[in-house]
Amino acid sequence: MNIILLGPPGAGKGTQASRLMADRGMVQLSTGDMLRAAVKSGSPVGLKAKSVMEAGELVSDEIVSGIIGERLDMSDTANGVIFDGYPRTAAQAEQLDELLEARGRMLDHVIELSVDEDALVDRIVGRYTCAKCGEGYHDHYKQPKVAGVCDVCGSTEFKRRPDDNAETVRTRMVEYRAKTAPILPIYEARGLVARVDGMADIDQVTQAIEAILDGK
Ligand code: AP5
Repeated sequence: MNIILLGPPGAGKGTQASRLMADRGMVQLSTGDMLRAAVKSGSPVGLKAKSVMEAGELVSDEIVSGIIGERLDMSDTANGVIFDGYPRTAAQAEQLDELLEARGRMLDHVIELSVDEDALVDRIVGRYTCAKCGEGYHDHYKQPKVAGVCDVCGSTEFKRRPDDNAETVRTRMVEYRAKTAPILPIYEARGLVARVDGMADIDQVTQAIEAILDGK
């Protein structure tokens, strides 16, 4: 099964994708995570992407579709893929169709996380992750059980994304409204879109997504 999680920054795409990975053995393909890894490694893609991401703008369609195509060729994607943060433009949606068709695969669901944009700045600005294992936390909504210690790996080091500040978040939302939201009708016309209330509790959002994947 191949699905797209669609929603503005902070809607909960990454949170839900990691739960689906753990529950269903699907692989999360987050273009944001892949680009951040490229920036960290200082690769040519990373050098091009760094300032664009820090400004909250979109990296070029060719770069992101290129990295998705390479990733789809890896064998661990055979059980199914969760596209998280991709596609983000009409051109990327077309490129994804081509990438899947060339590999004899198809899209099963496009799940839109509907959210109240006013709540998203708070969600994003309060977000941080474990520097060692990447587990996600939030200043208010998801704190470690023992303050300052990662629940998963016990590390005491945490980090925040450089683009998780109020000003950049607003640019990311403008980009979402202008370039990403308009791709929904493409998938609606194919009967692939299901909407989930992304303002519900994290567990309830997971249950709603699982029900869609189970055809309930
Ligand atoms: P990317 O990394 O994809 O960022 P994003 O889309 O802005 O999404 P986020 O990761 O910020 O949010 P999320 O929806 O995953 O929310 P999360 O689960 O963490 O992209 C970053 C940049 O890379 C882009 O700006 C662009 O420059 C570039 N890029 C990436 N892909 C690209 C592409 N395809 N084309 C071009 N450029 C691209 O949740 C947020 C917080 O809220 C967490 O703390 C979480 O604990 C909390 N939370 C989640 N759900 C709930 C809930 N239901 N209730 C309460 N709190 C919740």
